[in-house]
This record gives sequence, structure tokens and C-alpha cells, in this order.
Amino acid sequence: MIQVLFVCLGNICRSPMAEAVFRHKVKEAGLERDIVVDSVGTGDWHEGETPHQGTCELLREKDIDFSGIVARKIEKRDVENADYVVAMDADNMRSIRSLADEANDTKITKLMDFVPRNKIEDVPDPYFTGNFDEVYNMVDEGCDQLLAHIREQSSI
Ligand code: 4NP
Repeated sequence: MIQVLFVCLGNICRSPMAEAVFRHKVKEAGLERDIVVDSVGTGDWHEGETPHQGTCELLREKDIDFSGIVARKIEKRDVENADYVVAMDADNMRSIRSLADEANDTKITKLMDFVPRNKIEDVPDPYFTGNFDEVYNMVDEGCDQLLAHIREQSSI
């Protein structure tokens, strides 16, 4: 199984959205037996909470299942176990890098790195901007590109 881990700060807005969107795409592609998806936050403030209302509303609107997603803080073993650790922004990436051994560095990426000719490198935090639509569009495009990348890398 290929393990994909999305990471943001609070694990209630961006990374649970990415988890739900990516799992939806994996399912549509018939790859549920090949790829498992999870998400975590670098902070622990919202541990045990379901996603933010803005994320829930958007996912409902798009008819994307997000049942069972609960916030939790990243642990070193999450990084070690994952094949792709996909951060939402540069701060997340720094936090992940400081947690895990250097040997893991090559699998730690940012979602927007998968989007060719992309000008915005970080997914903005809607907890502060309030703009969940903007985040959804970026996550949707990023997840399409990430899935294409994984399929190519793993010949699936
Ligand atoms: P997220 O957004 O990282 O996309 O889940 C945030 C959620 C909560 C906080 C920060 C960012 N917070 O400071 O509580």
C-alpha cells in the first residue's frame, strides 16, 4: 500500500479537505486497494475535533465524503510510515522536517509543488483568510496532479 499523509497546522481546515478530496479521487480511479490516505496537524489545539465548518460545508456541497476524519497531531512515526508527506505550506514543511530524521526529507513535499507552472507555492490558511473556495480549488488541482504523479511513479 502507498501511504499518503497530508499535513497542515491545525488539521481542521486544509489537510482534512485534502484527505477527503484525495480519497475521493483515489476511489474514482479504483485505487483504494493501492493507496491509503490520512491527515495530521503540526499543532495539537484541535485534537479530537471534526473538520472546521467551512471545510465541512464545502465538502458537502461537492458531495465528497469526510466521515470519520478527526484532528490529531503529527508524530514522528507518521512521517516514517508514509510514502508521501504532503504539506500545505512552507511552515508545515519546516515543522515536519524538524520532527523526522533527515532520511525522510525526500518524501516531504508541498502540495503545490505538484502543480506545473504554479505561482502560489503555499495553500493559504482559511482559518485566517476565511476563503475556503480558494483552498478547495488549489487542493483539487494539487490532488489531481499528486495522483497522476503517484500513478506514474508506481505504474498503477
Ligand atoms: P489548518 O488551519 O492548518 O488549515 O487546519 C488552522 C486551524 C486552526 C489554527 C490554525 C490554522 N489554530 O491556530 O487554531
